[in-house]
Amino acid sequence: MNHEETGFPGSMNDEAVSPDGAPAAGQPRWRQDFPIDWPEDDYVSRRELVKFIVLTSAALAAGQSWVVVKSWSDGGGDSLADAAVAAVDELPVGGAKTFHYPEGSPPRLLVRTGPETFVAYDQQCTHLLCPVVPAVERSQLHCPCHNGWFDLETGRPLAGPPRRPLARILLDIREGTVYATGVEEPGV
Ligand code: FES
Repeated sequence: MNHEETGFPGSMNDEAVSPDGAPAAGQPRWRQDFPIDWPEDDYVSRRELVKFIVLTSAALAAGQSWVVVKSWSDGGGDSLADAAVAAVDELPVGGAKTFHYPEGSPPRLLVRTGPETFVAYDQQCTHLLCPVVPAVERSQLHCPCHNGWFDLETGRPLAGPPRRPLARILLDIREGTVYATGVEEPGV
């Protein structure tokens, strides 16, 4: 099938024809000195495009597969290493201390709520990031900036401007030491 039949000038069976369609003898000197096989050039361009699309698609598929596999291997949660944040005897009941978990994070607040119980949260208020302080006698956390209040047992906002719960730090007590074991980001 020739190019008149297809009406497609880039056919592989075409002879090399310059863009203006004039015979080779009528072409300018520079084009005669540097002739180009136009159908072959067009074919290479399309081949390169197809190769690019295939490689890009493969890279995207590989990236998505990695995310899925990573999510499965992490059990759907974060995979932070445990870190010791306090000795059990370090704080009296009602006492509190700040720590960073993981290293370099914003400050977290650990509160001893009973002889064997501790809670920990992100210390930054979910309104405008002021540090919250314990109000253990009310079983709450208080943000003095705009009088925000959070439930000490759950981190949920109770009063004032905050609308979102505080991120909770998961804890484990082993052999007299309190360990942070993960961060539970609040749902919206
Ligand atoms: S920053 Fe905490 S209530 Fe506004």
